[in-house]
Amino acid sequence: MKFGYFDDDKKEYVITTPKTPSPWINYLGSEEMFGIISNTGGGYTFYRDAKLRRLTRYRYNGIPADQNGRYFYLRDQASGEFWSPTWQPIRKELDKYECRHGLGYTKIIGELNGIASEITYFIPLKSNTEIHRVKVKNTGKELRKLSLFSFLEFCLWNADDDDRNFQRNLNTGEVEVEGSTIYHKTEFRERRNHYAYYAVNKAISSFETDRETFIGTYENLNNPRSVREGKCSNSLASGWSPIASHCLEMELKPGQEEEFTFILGYVEVSKDKKFTSVGVINKEPAKEQMGKFFQEGAVDKALSKLSRYWKKILKPFQIECPDEKLARMVNIWNPYQCKVTFNLSRSASYFESGVGRGMGFRDSNQDLLGFVHQVPERARERILDIAATQLEDGGAYHQYQPLTKRGNSDIGDGFYDDPLWLILGVCAYIKETNDISILEESVPYENNPELAMPLVDHLFRSFYFTLDNLGPHRLPLIGRADWNDCLNLNCFSEEPGESFQTTGNKTGRTAESLMIAGLFVYTCREFAGLLNILGEEEHEDAVREAKQTMIDSIKHYGRDPEWYLRAYDFFGNKIGSDECNEGKIYIESQAWCIMAGVGKQDGFDRKALDSVEKYLATKHGIVLQDPPYSEYHVELGEVSSYPPGYKENGGIFCHTNPWIMIAEAMLGNNEKALDYYRRIAPAYREEISDIHKMEPYVYSQMIAGKAAHNFGQAKNSWLTGTAAWNYVAITQYILGIRPGYCGLIVEPHITDELAGTKITRHFRGTEYRIEFIKGEDKGLFVDGKKTMITEILPVADIIDVQYIF
Ligand code: BGC
Ligand code: NOJ
Repeated sequence: MKFGYFDDDKKEYVITTPKTPSPWINYLGSEEMFGIISNTGGGYTFYRDAKLRRLTRYRYNGIPADQNGRYFYLRDQASGEFWSPTWQPIRKELDKYECRHGLGYTKIIGELNGIASEITYFIPLKSNTEIHRVKVKNTGKELRKLSLFSFLEFCLWNADDDDRNFQRNLNTGEVEVEGSTIYHKTEFRERRNHYAYYAVNKAISSFETDRETFIGTYENLNNPRSVREGKCSNSLASGWSPIASHCLEMELKPGQEEEFTFILGYVEVSKDKKFTSVGVINKEPAKEQMGKFFQEGAVDKALSKLSRYWKKILKPFQIECPDEKLARMVNIWNPYQCKVTFNLSRSASYFESGVGRGMGFRDSNQDLLGFVHQVPERARERILDIAATQLEDGGAYHQYQPLTKRGNSDIGDGFYDDPLWLILGVCAYIKETNDISILEESVPYENNPELAMPLVDHLFRSFYFTLDNLGPHRLPLIGRADWNDCLNLNCFSEEPGESFQTTGNKTGRTAESLMIAGLFVYTCREFAGLLNILGEEEHEDAVREAKQTMIDSIKHYGRDPEWYLRAYDFFGNKIGSDECNEGKIYIESQAWCIMAGVGKQDGFDRKALDSVEKYLATKHGIVLQDPPYSEYHVELGEVSSYPPGYKENGGIFCHTNPWIMIAEAMLGNNEKALDYYRRIAPAYREEISDIHKMEPYVYSQMIAGKAAHNFGQAKNSWLTGTAAWNYVAITQYILGIRPGYCGLIVEPHITDELAGTKITRHFRGTEYRIEFIKGEDKGLFVDGKKTMITEILPVADIIDVQYIF
């Protein structure tokens, strides 16, 4: 069952009922100002950091779901009837409802009793404003007198503190109102040099800034007092909870339409210019912002700029293909999600509260893989930011806060896979851009400028970090965890609520990871390739030697008869072995060893992939391990804390599935690779939205596994490494078009049904026009000439490539 449809021409997903199985969200903003918005207007806005600079309040896990947003109320002055044009928060049935989530904007259409409304929410490029354009039209036959009320609730900046420190926070709220603008200036009197405002471009009849006054004590947002009474009382919030609500009156003749531009703005003011007189804030910068968007035609212009921006972002890789679902994933939604995850890492979504996690060292490096071709300059900046949090011994802070860009000491370090991802991120950047100058950039360790070294030094320390941390089988130690944050083999937590990620009460040097072993071999291949183009022969040899030694260790100590082991625990016992009662086979080590090319010689790679199919593959995707743990194991950590079939305990952890697609493609099992791709790609799952439940336009982190009560039901949509890795799997391995150090590699692993596919890939200034054709004379043809070399140098403006199969 579906709850909408794709409009590919407009690059929108159109939701046709407000009652989606879960709020289906979208993101606004592209660089500094961001918002999340649901299909009924819910969500919140923040500047750069969802924790430290939250502009508006949201109530996570509230009842009813998805409460607080940028809400509007329409009220018929004659009858007193009022409703929400986005359905929430009143939830009165509308005659017409439609939500169009597009790239960087959301448009919600609602109609009731002859009054049609259309609200477009977006954050213009290079602007710290969020615009809500509201159109109201009389579609009936009589004159209508209406009031329009806006509503949003300010957050007192630090979202974490805002939700906890009530003894202070209920006293600090301050606002100012001038004309149609409501300024939120809490803490501006002291150490904050920034404020927010909510403005509208027309004269208001009244306003409200105090939440209690607007809603009424013991009332709620679906029946607010001011709306019920048809006017606001010009309340001035003093402490308690500051909000912004404008009341506007309009008279609409039949067919007449009114348009309003609301701006939620964020402004920073230099310390010496904060006030114009005692307590009166300097409104000039806000007025400047407003002036820009209140001009005639300015909103339309900003919207077309946004659409041109997105066109440019998507341009480097476009496909025409007989499979329309595949095309919409590759052309629109997968790259869109890649950009959002690049921007926000795992900070703010419907499932990530914005206060928990900053930018992940591992996460952000992986996100780069799906983003680097979109805006390489931003990828470059990000790499330098991440590298600056690396520790001197090559280890890494697991996370950092985007506002401060400093390593997050609450979480600390000790995830022993982290450093290797930096090498992969940098290699991907250089392959895309050929910009080896990045390696010479001076980058601090531990954010300490005195410890700065060229970036290339960071890569070596990452590489040696693994070699310096080998266990008894000469396999990499796991530390707190590897890619699987929940395989906590040195944790042994007995304390309820204790964080599995930060507790490490065993200082063991026994627990080893086959996932890191595979990742290391894979990374060595990439790194050696880089050293080769740099002419660093000696280093290249050292890397290749270390790679071979690791391959030998994997061969001797890393295998069960039918698959790769997953790890050795604190006591030196095997994890992910047929000898175990549960958790016999894990996906990660199969994936990484095979992607690294381990097991090719004796065919063990095929054997392991067959085991994946036999034990782990399901119709909804491939589960992470099997059988899941039915009991808590103190020596395994969080993995065994989840009920069987969820998350890392046997869930379909979608991030891992593309690794298997890549492995299958590498081994030439093209049918299987595409089949696995289709099992989890959201556009293919759209038909079963009632089971899948999450947005059908973006990947979720997890789909409940076969052992779960709700097999096939997704969770944790949007912010997941699944986006980048599926993009890599489909574009670089299945379609087979990937950057190399010298040119663009074309090595498709496709099936007959993709014959006729055409791809345009812009790479280092060259437009590659690639076509997949069924034919007799098989092979790769570059500008009409057959070639055995699959890495095609960018030596002309346009290069025609035909792959005949
Ligand atoms: C989740 C992991 C996540 C980790 C982050 C765990 O509870 O299961 O998927 O990476 O938290 O800290
Ligand atoms: C989500 C985290 O963001 C990611 O870093 C981790 O690899 C996976 N969970 C698996 O645990």
